[in-house]
Amino acid sequence: MRSHVAEELIRTRRRSAGLTTCVDDDDLARQHSPLMSPLVWDLAHIGSQEELWLVRDVGGAEAIRPDIDDLYDAFQHPRRDRPRLPLLGPAETRGYVGTVRRKVLDLLDRVPLRGRPLVDRAFAFGMIVQHEQQHDETMLATHQLRAGDPVLAADPPPAAPADPLPAEVLVPGGAFTMGTDTEPWALDNERPAHRVEVADFYLDTTPVTNGAYRHFVEDGGYDAPRWWSEAGWAHRQEAGLRAPRFWLRDGGGWSRRRFGHLEPLRDAEPVVHVSFHEAEAYARWAGRRLPTEQEWEKAARHDPRTGRSRRYPWGDEDPGPEHANLGQRHLRPASAGAYPLGAAPCGARQLIGDVWEWTSSDFLPHPGFAAFPYREYSEVFFGPSHKVLRGGSFGTDAAACRGTFRNWDLPVRRQIFAGFRCARTPRPGELG
Ligand code: AVJ
Ligand code: FE
Repeated sequence: MRSHVAEELIRTRRRSAGLTTCVDDDDLARQHSPLMSPLVWDLAHIGSQEELWLVRDVGGAEAIRPDIDDLYDAFQHPRRDRPRLPLLGPAETRGYVGTVRRKVLDLLDRVPLRGRPLVDRAFAFGMIVQHEQQHDETMLATHQLRAGDPVLAADPPPAAPADPLPAEVLVPGGAFTMGTDTEPWALDNERPAHRVEVADFYLDTTPVTNGAYRHFVEDGGYDAPRWWSEAGWAHRQEAGLRAPRFWLRDGGGWSRRRFGHLEPLRDAEPVVHVSFHEAEAYARWAGRRLPTEQEWEKAARHDPRTGRSRRYPWGDEDPGPEHANLGQRHLRPASAGAYPLGAAPCGARQLIGDVWEWTSSDFLPHPGFAAFPYREYSEVFFGPSHKVLRGGSFGTDAAACRGTFRNWDLPVRRQIFAGFRCARTPRPGELG
């Protein structure tokens, strides 16, 4: 257990270091978009949360830098204001996060890992690993927004097998177990496990592709209010949306900017960088709808042979490179239909990895929810203003992704690695 936790901490820090050493100090301290923090803020915030929860709370030690708590408290300063704060510089930030980490690895050698709920099965350490990985994904989104030459590289993702796939799969109605009581590092909003009744529905076998989404764009979807909700259309007008973020018209076709490369749009890849509003408009245009969060989780986890819910679509094994496109191993989604070994029992593919999937659901607590260990992780975001995303993206690490993992964001956001798949309710008589 202790060596596993230490390896996860070290592996995660290697990722954070990679994302912050590939650009110069000026780039690190600059703001690349008003939607994002300077990279050096994310790095110091990672250290600050680690100090707060592990060094001070779990370890009971004195504050290392009590003077900087406020600077790196996400609730004190909105992202757009962060570049004007008296932030630590790059060298000082690296020194600070290194000091915190040495104390944490020392603490990990001697702290009891049962008893207090915060340390039981190393929960607080797992929470901090996930927190750092979440900010690494945020930093990856900042890299995508950054202008200039490419600084990140990775192998291309695996191709999709050539065998034809059905466009949609049927998920037969019935109850299933949603959420978890047993996953040791599951966050508060994934708990508790509870039974949910889900009616028969059809779900797209794969996420919606660039090719399919392009037809919506080229059919005038962005100029037809009838496909959009009222709020979606108002946003479409105000923000002047015409296509997914990072798409560029290129003569008669499209190209896209991806981590500093300009390249032709690949029709077979899942669409990414669309808002909830765009996903919803596409679904209506296609005569379909977004799945609810309950439908998504049932498709991803329910095993009809045993009646149990799995940890992942493919079973209970931790994700491997054969199952899903996770962890920044590749810098883009794999073509629709890839990862046959990651398929769910219902036949749906790529539910985990590739792109976050917008659902139609508001971010709400599971019945019996209890905030743990702090209200500001989930509880303050519950309500109709945030929509749930599921499944993780190519930029999500396996430590921060499971069948129960819930992400959320405002319905206008599209700098995150978000796409979607559609669902539909069977027509009367369709199922006999
Ligand atoms: C769960 C991705 C919405 O980044 O705002 C990071 C995770 N919480 N620090 C976010 C989080 C506190 C959160 N999301
Ligand atoms: Fe944070």
